[in-house]
Amino acid sequence: MGESMKGMKRTHYCGELRASDIGKTVTVMGWVNKRRDMSQLIFVVVRDRTGLVQVVADERRMPGQYKLAKSVRGEYVVAASGTVIARTPENVNADMPTGEIEIDITELRILSESEVPPFSVLDEDVGLDTRLKYRYLDLRRPDVQRIITLRHNVAQSIRCCLSEEGFIEVETPYLTNSSPEGARDYLVPSRLHPGGFYALPQSPQQFKQLLMVAGLDKYFQIVRCFRDEDLRADRQPEFTQVDIEMSFVNEEDVWAMTENMVRRVFRETMGIEIPTPFPRMTWHEAMERYGSDKPDMRFGMELVNISDLPVIKDTEFQVFAAALENGGGVRGINATGFASMPRKQIDALVEVARANNAKGLAWINVMEDGTVKSTISKFFDEAQTAEIIAAFGAKAGDLILLCADTHEITQNTLGAVRLAVGKKLEIPAPVKAEDFKFLWVTHFPLFEYSPEDKRYYAAHHPFTSPLEEDEHLIETDPAAVRARQYDLVLNGFETAGGSIRIHRRDLQDRMFAALGFTPERAQAGFKHFLEALQYGVPPHGGIAWGFDRFIMVLTDAASLREVIAFPKVKDGSCPMTDAPSIVDASQLDELNISVK
Ligand code: AMO
Ligand code: AMP
Repeated sequence: MGESMKGMKRTHYCGELRASDIGKTVTVMGWVNKRRDMSQLIFVVVRDRTGLVQVVADERRMPGQYKLAKSVRGEYVVAASGTVIARTPENVNADMPTGEIEIDITELRILSESEVPPFSVLDEDVGLDTRLKYRYLDLRRPDVQRIITLRHNVAQSIRCCLSEEGFIEVETPYLTNSSPEGARDYLVPSRLHPGGFYALPQSPQQFKQLLMVAGLDKYFQIVRCFRDEDLRADRQPEFTQVDIEMSFVNEEDVWAMTENMVRRVFRETMGIEIPTPFPRMTWHEAMERYGSDKPDMRFGMELVNISDLPVIKDTEFQVFAAALENGGGVRGINATGFASMPRKQIDALVEVARANNAKGLAWINVMEDGTVKSTISKFFDEAQTAEIIAAFGAKAGDLILLCADTHEITQNTLGAVRLAVGKKLEIPAPVKAEDFKFLWVTHFPLFEYSPEDKRYYAAHHPFTSPLEEDEHLIETDPAAVRARQYDLVLNGFETAGGSIRIHRRDLQDRMFAALGFTPERAQAGFKHFLEALQYGVPPHGGIAWGFDRFIMVLTDAASLREVIAFPKVKDGSCPMTDAPSIVDASQLDELNISVK
């Protein structure tokens, strides 16, 4: 129930009124944030997307309005007209931008009533499932609205920037073909082609390359992508990319364009001047120093390879000796300042190591009083332990964590352990330019070997160009071929990724062959694309931003769910709409589908 707005027109948003408006007759509309009753006065705080303002009904002067005000409850939608007046000095609220004033009501209307909501919009502590089931209430919270608004501002800034730089936004199809080689597709059955399925795009990769063949020269699109993967905090089944492709460019051009865009977005949306160019690191160096292809550069604790240390080389400690014999090594990190880490937390780090296929994690505690505690004291005497400590530059108060295994396992393990220790640093939310650590990671391997499938996969996608000097190794030593691929990492998140593409048909054919495709299968999967490569292709390359991820890092959100208006939860469902749902038998029938 509620009255109409007839005869009332909003003159101001709640949050914009200031002392300079005192004396004005205004009308605001919004939701009841809070009501407070005093003798003969009722204060109602009204909320809209800009903020809060207090309106006051005085029984002595406006008995009818007073009575009405007394009946409003939280989340009622109201319209209030009146005069902006100064609050008495003792009532000024310095925490509220509109805290110097209030509106003395001449007319109050209840436009719509509200049931008692399942949770208070003012309550900070509400379970995720409840928040998402009533996401439209959750979205009323100022913090959530701030994120959604920033998201809009960033998108707007990107659009203007790219448009001014000569990029053309082109929409590519959502109903398209399943493409082998990617993640799992979402399929859409075709009614008119029994047994035929469209696939929702995992990215517009082929289309954007075809737009380069078409001579569009510079393309972008803020576009939804769909991947049927297991959800994680930084993964959603549908997510948004800022997808970009450029012709007649090399890596430097793509990077300069990206850095220019980042600078502009930070300046326009947050007033922050981000220094460029961003630092660069090869994939190989990132793995050696950080055990990660997306290193978080906000803290140190770099990996140290101590395999060549005489005490390690000559050790009789079976675990270390075996790793070296098998071609692996011993690496570690200095968890600086963590000597007094409780045993339970160290055990948790050992579990992190195990989860990364390491057989164990040894540690050396350099206590504040100079004594040393170590899990490997049986195998290394005091002098030998001192040599290891020296190799890490560890001082009193430090904790050394060591892993012995293949190079791959020690790197991945210590990369994960480093992040787990880094979490304990409780790095505050980024606010200044220095808090945003961008890094280009370059020269990724072109192929990744899958021991289960006993074949190579494209590490990025099969259209990524090998480094020219490595091209000759495609057939003979695929693992050694480096790609012209780059990722842009921000505070430990892969926020963007791209590559210079293959623009020659012969090279594309070799690439598919290396991936184990017969010419027939390549034809079947990529016919239109391979055909297009025969008709004059400009050298081209591009990049795609994980837009949600970028916003997640900017806002220090714990999960992508926080930055998407209507996100999915862990099992891919939507708690609000209950999608996915069972459909009518008749609908399935029409689609020639029967469910197993
Ligand atoms: P890629 O697969 O690396 O590249 O994706 C680009 C960026 O998209 C983001 N991203 C995701 N964000 C949220 N949820 C997901 N499930 C998800 N998956 C990826 C990441 C990633 O860096 N076509 C190529 C780009 C190119 O070569 O130009 C592509 O899609 O931030
Ligand atoms: P053990 O003699 O098996 O009890 O091992 C002694 C110490 O070495 C324990 O702290 C183990 O966790 C550690 N350790 C075992 N395997 C490894 C490994 N692969 N890398 C590093 N430390 C290990």
